[in-house]
Amino acid sequence: MKRTHHCAQLTTADLGKTASLAGWVDSIRDHGGIIFVDLRDRQGITQVKFDPQDDADVGARAAQLKPESVIGVTGRVVRRPEGTVNPNLPTGEVEVDATTLEIHNLSETSPFPLDDEGGDRVNEDLRLTYRYLDLRRPKMRRNLEVRHRTTKAVRDYFDALGFIDVETPILFKSTPEGAREYLVPSRIHPGEFYALSQSPQQFKQILMVAGVERYYQMARCFRDEDLRADRQMEFTQIDVEVSFIDREGIYTLFEGMLKKIWKDILDVDLPVPFPRLAFQEAMNRFGVDKPDTRFGLELVDFTEMFKKSAFKVFASAAAGGGAVKALNARGLADLTQSELTSLEEAARSLGAKGLAFIKVEGGEWKSPIVKFFSDAEKAALTQRLGIADGDIIFFAAAPWEKACAILGRIRLECAALLQKRGKLAIPANQWNFLWVVDFPLMTFDEETKRFVATHHPFTAPVPEDIPLLDAEPQKVRGQHYDVVLNGMEIGGGSIRIHQPALQEKVFKDVLKIPADVVESRFGYLLRAFKYGAPPHGGIAFGFDRLVALLRGTTSIRDVIAFPKTQKAQDLMTQSPAPVTAKQLRDLHIQTVQPA
Ligand code: AMO
Ligand code: AMP
Repeated sequence: MKRTHHCAQLTTADLGKTASLAGWVDSIRDHGGIIFVDLRDRQGITQVKFDPQDDADVGARAAQLKPESVIGVTGRVVRRPEGTVNPNLPTGEVEVDATTLEIHNLSETSPFPLDDEGGDRVNEDLRLTYRYLDLRRPKMRRNLEVRHRTTKAVRDYFDALGFIDVETPILFKSTPEGAREYLVPSRIHPGEFYALSQSPQQFKQILMVAGVERYYQMARCFRDEDLRADRQMEFTQIDVEVSFIDREGIYTLFEGMLKKIWKDILDVDLPVPFPRLAFQEAMNRFGVDKPDTRFGLELVDFTEMFKKSAFKVFASAAAGGGAVKALNARGLADLTQSELTSLEEAARSLGAKGLAFIKVEGGEWKSPIVKFFSDAEKAALTQRLGIADGDIIFFAAAPWEKACAILGRIRLECAALLQKRGKLAIPANQWNFLWVVDFPLMTFDEETKRFVATHHPFTAPVPEDIPLLDAEPQKVRGQHYDVVLNGMEIGGGSIRIHQPALQEKVFKDVLKIPADVVESRFGYLLRAFKYGAPPHGGIAFGFDRLVALLRGTTSIRDVIAFPKTQKAQDLMTQSPAPVTAKQLRDLHIQTVQPA
């Protein structure tokens, strides 16, 4: 079973040597009784030849092999005959003339092809059910390797800067103001529950009080959210917290980390510092707080102009405190009716009342609404949107944030349509990092009619805005920052509140959490802050998202060895699954099936 070489190693320099290889049968070819096997291990492929004329027994057993069986062979390294050299393989000039064959395990026929293209074509559920086969595909193996190497780059970076890795509990306590949690019943304390940690946020802040100063952890986090391509119920964060640091210090530290990762993994030199964009500007120009700045199609504001317009839909929105925004999808006037309908549906799903548009074709503005526009309005639209033949202009009239969000979505959909037509090129290897800053500290929740923390309640306000906390909390900016890459939020964090009085004020006076609830949920944190809490701040990166971007895939499931499906199931182990009545009894749990 002992190997002398791996399967990407043998070359003409080894001719005449005896080699022992082991691995999986990648493919088998029978050339008139002589069996050729492509033998595969983690490193690569080597061709092995079994000739029944040399050894009838070995030849007969080789004839029974099936793809994906596991074998060990020993034989002599020989030159491949003229015309059979494979220039695409490092081992392509040689083959191993096998004298022994050990069959460790015959394999059943794989339910799907294990090459990259073949595997990509099959249903993902099938791949996840047989994940151990899926992970044999070169692309998937490479994903795991890159993930490992990225972890190592991160660890090396922080280690060199004097950070220490501290593990924090996964069994934590319920903190209902964040994402929905996974609860874990306590056997020893009937009726009481732990919650799986959503993030090490509170522990890492307490580590700062403990004097750790520089903490990092590759932290597993658990959130009971609706799953999507970029969201899993359990995922990994690069979680960091630092004492005696301000926002500028954070920006430099993490630009350095990302620079190292991109250099180590992709050999790309990222330019630093990254551009910064205020939340307000991001929304105004791109309609989203995580803009993809690799292409233009920016939103333009026409609120002022339409305040006195004859088109009542726009005039009433603009005059009533809302906004009227427009977007020129350059060159998309040829969109089909069904594409237009699906854009309208997308807008409606975000609460739009309609999606007014102007198609510009043959020098003519084709639109049900142009008849309401004055010549001055038309001139201003032409000039500020740079309108030309072949364009289509979309409008949203709504409360400011909604109008931005609607066109932000339309912008992305139009970009996809333009890409499909070859009218917009987004290079795959363009890396548009940016910091999004100056988020509002608080957001008004229409449902509960109270303020909620935009990110989490530990974020420090911008110092000069603190006097506004009582009267106009919506105007207070938080010392929060997000890192965005090509339209994906890959990280976020903040400088924290470290003064117990201010933290208590935010809980009680701004968030209106009753005093007894503050004590039971956050009493320990407020107490800790009373024993010498240093100023501190930190950040967490979505590690799975980062690796997905490094690998050019849009689904984080591709870079997680054993992910859950969109329906929150592990198809391979068939989890979740029922448990026994005794287990439930021990945990003091009764279940109720939904009707
Ligand atoms: P936040 O909740 O923004 O911040 O999470 C940080 C980053 O984690 C990634 N992420 C996810 N990735 C995959 N699946 C999910 N379900 C998921 N949810 C979040 C995102 C996100 O940017 N404690 C704070 C950080 C801090 O303030 O230091 C926190 O958890 O890329
Ligand atoms: P209406 O006058 O309601 O028939 O609308 C005329 C056009 O304006 C239609 O194309 C609607 O889709 C569009 N529209 C209506 N309300 C809005 C709005 N709030 N924002 C953008 N377009 C709208």
